Amino acid sequence: MALSPAAGRLSAHEIADEPYYRAVGDEVEIFAASYACRLPVMLKGPTGCGKTRFVEHMAWRLGRPLVTVAAHEDLTAADLAGRFLLAPEGTVWHDGPLTTAVREGAICYLDEIVEARQDTTVVIHPLTDARRALPLEKKGELVAAHPDFQLTISYNPGYQSAVKDLKESTKQRFVAIEFDYPEPSVEAEIVAREAGAEPELARSLVEVGLRSRNLRGRGLAEGASTRMLIHAAKLVGGGAALDAAIRAAIVLPITDEPDMREALGAAIAATLPQALRLQ
Ligand SMILES: Nc1ncnc2c1ncn2[C@@H]1O[C@H](COP(=O)(O)OP(=O)(O)OP(=O)(O)O)[C@@H](O)[C@H]1O
Ligand SMILES: [Mg+2]
Repeated sequence: MALSPAAGRLSAHEIADEPYYRAVGDEVEIFAASYACRLPVMLKGPTGCGKTRFVEHMAWRLGRPLVTVAAHEDLTAADLAGRFLLAPEGTVWHDGPLTTAVREGAICYLDEIVEARQDTTVVIHPLTDARRALPLEKKGELVAAHPDFQLTISYNPGYQSAVKDLKESTKQRFVAIEFDYPEPSVEAEIVAREAGAEPELARSLVEVGLRSRNLRGRGLAEGASTRMLIHAAKLVGGGAALDAAIRAAIVLPITDEPDMREALGAAIAATLPQALRLQ
């Protein structure tokens, strides 16, 4: 059977192999229950704690294609919904990624939605209440959502200024799942698995992560994420010395302040003698 053009568009978004995701609480059950009744979901939590990996895993688990849009400050409603573009035969409508997901029944993941222009909320509101429809004003079309369509957004309350916060009327449409860095033994398991690192090394790096997180709000906007710990473990796997790997993957990216680098370095050094014995 020939694929329809739409099926062709979405096949690129299908997730064939299971993305590794280590559940930390009841997030898998809550997301599955939300999806079962097509409720929109908001993933809240700091950077690098597994939100993107989780949504990839859930899309795979639920057998739905995943359309991801990374929001940025210039992202407009037209970037999501679509626009007319000039073509040799005149102007031709091009669906945006959200419209594609709505028509074809994908999970659409809008990453850091609060960064986008305010007009984007206008398009997501009717999609996230009982209407489940996407108005394409310029085209004069109201697209009813495919029964399998679902919207997931990520939102990091810590980083937003009041001006950029989501509106109450937006927030209150979503089921929320809160993410944080997992408890040390679980985080070590993740770091070891993702970086192919020895458990001992992973545990030491998690200790480094904990130290850095203690400086959160005391000069550091955020401590080292699980992502950073994985990077450090990969550098060690690639031949770097542990202290050099920590400096390159954690200390230097996380702050530009010399004083803070020193404080962080000292906090980390306190964990290192034991860790260095691994080398
Ligand atoms: N629970 C977990 N299971 C498996 N891998 C995880 C988990 N948590 C974090 N990771 C690892 O950490 C990396 C960073 O996670 P991810 O990209 O999902 O973060 P994020 O929360 O989406 O961050 P951001 O807000 O910056 O987009 C992943 O690539 C994965 O390797
Ligand atoms: Mg992400």
